[in-house]
This record gives sequence, structure tokens and C-alpha cells, in this order.
Amino acid sequence: MFEQAANVIRTAEVFIITAGAGMGVDSGLPDFRGDHGFWKAYPAYARLGLSFVECANPQHFLDDPSFGWGFYGHRTNLYRDTVPHEGFHLIRQWIARNSAEYFVVTSNVDGQFQKAGYAGDRIVEVHGSIHWLQCQTPCGSDIWHNDEVLDIDEAVMRARPPLPRCSGCGEVSRPNILMFGDWSWLQDRTRIQEHAFERFLTTHADRRIAVIEMGAGSAIPTIRATSERIGWNHEHATVIRINPREAEIKAPHISLSCGALEGLQKINNLL
Ligand SMILES: NC(=O)c1ccc[n+]([C@@H]2O[C@H](COP(=O)([O-])OP(=O)(O)OC[C@H]3O[C@@H](n4cnc5c(N)ncnc54)[C@H](O)[C@@H]3O)[C@@H](O)[C@H]2O)c1
Ligand SMILES: [Zn+2]
Repeated sequence: MFEQAANVIRTAEVFIITAGAGMGVDSGLPDFRGDHGFWKAYPAYARLGLSFVECANPQHFLDDPSFGWGFYGHRTNLYRDTVPHEGFHLIRQWIARNSAEYFVVTSNVDGQFQKAGYAGDRIVEVHGSIHWLQCQTPCGSDIWHNDEVLDIDEAVMRARPPLPRCSGCGEVSRPNILMFGDWSWLQDRTRIQEHAFERFLTTHADRRIAVIEMGAGSAIPTIRATSERIGWNHEHATVIRINPREAEIKAPHISLSCGALEGLQKINNLL
């Protein structure tokens, strides 16, 4: 399987990198796989009996903003401090070696691809980004970069004042992320990224495409569906699905049951 994956990488003219929360695990980030995984990462929410779905809810910014910002402020600080693992750089080296084109499609909101040197105009963040803010109401369509200093009391997962605010109306702002039961998310930034990606796919439809999917879970299957759509619709596309627990995909696509970093390193050793 690894040899087969290495062959696909060797001859790829286009790389499409699709990534879910598992891509960050080897950089030390938690995924939120099931309530158990979420509570292991956030013991304070285990004590309160709150699931990921209950914490990732825009209503908190309205009802109890210091609690809403507790979760997202903690994650903002965590993602700012994280150093992307070597796997991010290996793929960039492959792209450079093949003089290939690339695009990243991720459900992660953590900005790790930009941090690892991938170009901002070559990334779709399908659920938005924690590094951008919007008004919680929202009073307008503005989205602005998150330069806020966020001070979190981790014992109770609450943000200490002052909380980030909208300069338009003075209300508390929130990350420009699609949450659960979310009618207020401003989609423009993601929609622009999606259009750029669709143009990219059309332009390169007939070339040899390597889709490298890493850490995409089946509970919210957006990323897995994206990889499969490209894999089945494009004649010269092969999906390499890397996942330690749920790597299954039908041949001719390639399934690697291991962590992202390990899988990428093993492929790299064969190139
Ligand atoms: N870093 C982030 O931005 C972040 C973190 C957690 C959740 N989320 C959001 O929550 C939702 C959760 O969906 P999801 O499918 O991305 O995550 P998920 O938590 O449901 O699943 C994570 C997947 O990663 C796999 N995995 C675990 N360790 C891995 C490793 N070392 N290498 C590769 N894969 C590994 C797991 O088997 C699982 O399939 C997404 O919408 C995502 O936006 C984002
Ligand atoms: Zn506002």
C-alpha cells in the first residue's frame, strides 16, 4: 500500500490535500472524536456534562459570552501556539519537487496550513477560521482578523474581561466559524475560497491528481465526501486516505491505517 501511494505521489501533477481534525493530532492538538475524546481534551466540560456540540453553539455568545469565549479563546491560544508537524512540510516538498499545483480543503479552523507556509489563496476552510472574527448579531457583513489577547480561566473555561467586541455595534464578537445550530455565521470568506477551489478543479480536471486525505472523521463526513467526489469524478485522480482508525476506501483508492505523520514519513522514505 505504501509503495502504491509513493507511486501516486511520484507522478502527481496536482496535489489536493484534504484534512480533518486528525491532521493536527501529531502536532499535539486534540481531535474531538466522540464525547470521550472531547472530554479528555477539556476536563472542565466533562465536569459540566457538556458535549462538543453543546459547547460549539453560537447561543453562548448571546446568553453568556464569557463562557462562549472560554471555549473559543482557549482554542485560539492553543492554535496560535501550535507548531505544525513535519508532515505538513513533507507534502510541500513533494509539491515543489514535482513542480505541481496544489489546493488544501480542510474542516479545521486552526490555521495550521497557513502557518506551515501554504498560500492563503490555495486553501478552503469549509467551516471558517478561528483567526477571523465577526459580529455575533451580525450587524453587518464585516469579517476581521482576530488580533485579540484572550485570557482564559481554565478551571471554569471562562474568558476574563475585556471580551472581543464588534466595532460596528459594540456587541461581543465571535469567531467566523460555522457552529452547531448556527444561523449567524457569515459565509462570504469560505464561499470565495470554495469558488477558487472549484475553478482550480475545472482547470486541472484531466491531470494526474493525488488527493491526500488525513484525519477526516466519519461523524461529520464533509471532508471524506470531498475526497471521494474528486476520486470518483476525475479519471486520473487517486485518493490516499490516511487515518489510524477509519481508513477504509474502495480500490483503486488507497487506504493507509496509521497516523498522518507516520504515513507521510513512510511514503517519503520510498520516494
Ligand atoms: N484543529 C481543529 O481545527 C479542529 C479540532 C477538532 C475539531 N474540529 C472540527 O470539528 C469537526 C470534527 O470533524 P473531524 O472529522 O475533523 O474530526 P473528528 O474529531 O471527528 O475525527 C478525527 C479523525 O482523525 C483521526 N485521527 C486521530 N489521530 C490521527 C492521526 N494522528 N493522524 C491522522 N488521523 C488521526 C481519527 O481516527 C478520526 O477519524 C470538524 O468540523 C472540525 O472542523 C476542528
Ligand atoms: Zn455588530
